[in-house]
Amino acid sequence: MFLRWSYVRFLFGLRHMGTTWQVGDGREQALADYVCAHARRNDIDDVIRAIDEFCYTKSYLINIGDEKGKILDRAVAAAHPHRLLELGTYCGYSALRIARVMPADAVLYSIEFNPANAAVARRIWDHAGIGERIVVLVGTLGDGGKTLSALRDEHEFAPGTIDFVFLDHEKDEYLPDLRRILDQAWLHAGSVVVADNVKYPGVPGYRAFMRRHESAHWRTREHRTHAEYQKIIKDLVLESTFLG
Ligand SMILES: C[S@@+](CC[C@H](N)C(=O)[O-])C[C@H]1O[C@@H](n2cnc3c(N)ncnc32)[C@H](O)[C@@H]1O
Repeated sequence: MFLRWSYVRFLFGLRHMGTTWQVGDGREQALADYVCAHARRNDIDDVIRAIDEFCYTKSYLINIGDEKGKILDRAVAAAHPHRLLELGTYCGYSALRIARVMPADAVLYSIEFNPANAAVARRIWDHAGIGERIVVLVGTLGDGGKTLSALRDEHEFAPGTIDFVFLDHEKDEYLPDLRRILDQAWLHAGSVVVADNVKYPGVPGYRAFMRRHESAHWRTREHRTHAEYQKIIKDLVLESTFLG
């Protein structure tokens, strides 16, 4: 994996990633082209398969990936959620996995900073036939209230209405955004928050927060796993239940 040109090219693109959240060689758009050409239309399983295939054989992408994706699948299925919030859409891979296992009447709201990534995700979701079950909003929870207001005023986010949150965006924003969600009182006792990349690249402050509040406000399971699309770098996914 690490010797593959696509991974080396990814490392060269890290500076570009830091500002735009795209690698800079067009691989995100190439993924959407690949899915439309190689995955059966309206077949969510086949679209997920095609994305993993693209990442293993064509270009490495920062999706949650197949190994950690199974942890996410199980957490969503166990939570029986109706309203879900994802921070960090990228190309829409984790949203596809979430939509595949969430109840039929559930809706996933996914927040994405880069409009170009949101457009790639929409194209892929439409191909998978699940475009109507996911709402993508371009913005961030830290954009001065714009996205928080849109969720409140246009999408009926109200106290106690979010059942499941998936954090997979800017690592420095995990805790500030969780606090923004808590300030809105959108969670209820039993809401579940799953956080990716807690070991790699690492979000130590978030892990420390969950440890500090264990049993009082949160109950957390730490899933030991690997970073996406390889078996060398270790990672942790945290699954935290809000106790109120
Ligand atoms: C690791 S990728 C998400 C991968 C995706 N969840 C998946 O597994 O398929 C991170 C994404 O978060 C977006 N992002 C970065 N900062 C953000 C913020 N503050 N709010 C929302 N999205 C953000 C980036 O543009 C990028 O698309």
